[in-house]
Amino acid sequence: MNKRPRIKSKILPGPKAKKIVRRDEFILSPSMTRSYPLVVDKALGAWITDPDGNLFLDFTCGLSVTNTGHCHPKVLKAMKSQMDRLIHMSGTDFYYEIQVTLAEQLAKIAPLEKGRKKVFFCNSGAEAVESAFKCARYHTKRQKVIAFLGAFHGRTMGALSLTGSKSRQKERFSPLVPGVTHVPYATCYRCPYGLKYPSCDVHCAKVIEEEYFKTVLPAEEVAAIIVEPIQGEGGFNVPPPKYHATLKQIAHKYGILLIMDEVQAGMGRTGECFAINHWKVKPDIITMAKGIASGMPLGAIVTTEKIMDWKPGSHASTFGGNPVACASAVATLKLLETQLLKNVRKLGPYLGKRLKELETKYEIIGDVRGVGFMWGVELVKDRKTKVRAIKERDKMVDLAFEKGLLILGAGENSIRIVPPLIASKSELDVAIDILDQCFLELKKKRRK
Ligand SMILES: Cc1ncc(COP(=O)(O)O)c(C=O)c1O
Repeated sequence: MNKRPRIKSKILPGPKAKKIVRRDEFILSPSMTRSYPLVVDKALGAWITDPDGNLFLDFTCGLSVTNTGHCHPKVLKAMKSQMDRLIHMSGTDFYYEIQVTLAEQLAKIAPLEKGRKKVFFCNSGAEAVESAFKCARYHTKRQKVIAFLGAFHGRTMGALSLTGSKSRQKERFSPLVPGVTHVPYATCYRCPYGLKYPSCDVHCAKVIEEEYFKTVLPAEEVAAIIVEPIQGEGGFNVPPPKYHATLKQIAHKYGILLIMDEVQAGMGRTGECFAINHWKVKPDIITMAKGIASGMPLGAIVTTEKIMDWKPGSHASTFGGNPVACASAVATLKLLETQLLKNVRKLGPYLGKRLKELETKYEIIGDVRGVGFMWGVELVKDRKTKVRAIKERDKMVDLAFEKGLLILGAGENSIRIVPPLIASKSELDVAIDILDQCFLELKKKRRK
């Protein structure tokens, strides 16, 4: 029989978890948004146990991070062996082999144009974005950047300036870094121009050249276009086939760098090491973090030697490229190559098919979209008007938690389904069964 979540507590959080939630809320920053009171005691593979012994199936991957599953034995082994040798020596000032090894491997797999590659390590997605932003300004000697509405690139001042997701994230933090113009993304389900692919001919990309460059944004002042291959926090929006190639064409016509933010969609999540491989486009700079080191804090940018031409002292990070994080990343890459990409390629279409079956059953589902193990389900009050079902989405996330399935929201009214890349068919089935029950309950509640 399939392993299933086990909720022993009468209500969640159970007594032990509740105490921790109280202590947390007393002492920790109120800026965090916890969707539901999950307290994690321990975790293995796709499964999480809370302090009261409740067992949850984790389809959040700790915010798209634990792609190899929690505490994968091969990742642990690599980290433990590195810890016995060296935990820290700052790659900014000194040399150590594991950082070089990881850089060599990333350079090999990063889908960039031919030529020698260069890698810069940091600690998070936001820092990777900051690094790409700075690298682009430094190399081009230009100041402006094009980013997208709905994009999430992080919360440090530079990354936040590029973020175009929720105004709450920017409220009272201005002035931000100047020179950023946000343009609409390829949100085909809600095309900002009311068009349809393919007859639209990716107008949403072409508009950059045809409108913005002609009116408000001189192309020769633009250093970079930063874009997510699939928009994550913005609602798991998957652009149409020609989209990224058109962005690249426009960028290169004007000497602009194309930065691909692979922080969320990268590291095997879509069945390719980098999501942009699905579009067969080679960007100029790639940012990565989250899944790169199976939960250890690590971020990186990879670009060409020609582009990363900054001088010693211009950019660095004390903890960037930490040896234990690098060892974890090397083990993670090996797992991707040997097992996980295969698993996602095999089971990704099955997951999509099962989610689309739910779409045929429940009117509240407006759209199901995704690739590999990265799926978004958008909820609407009415399929014709597409009015966003925001409260219902939050309710779905809560219901799933109560039944032992961990999912999270994306955008205002979508849920994101991001299983660990090790997930088996039966684990996917368990998750779909629970989602089915939740949608049914939601339907009954809406009728009342
Ligand atoms: C595409 C993308 N870029 C950057 C970030 C920022 O990463 P971090 O939270 O590690 O700073 C995120 C985080 O969700 C992201 O999804």
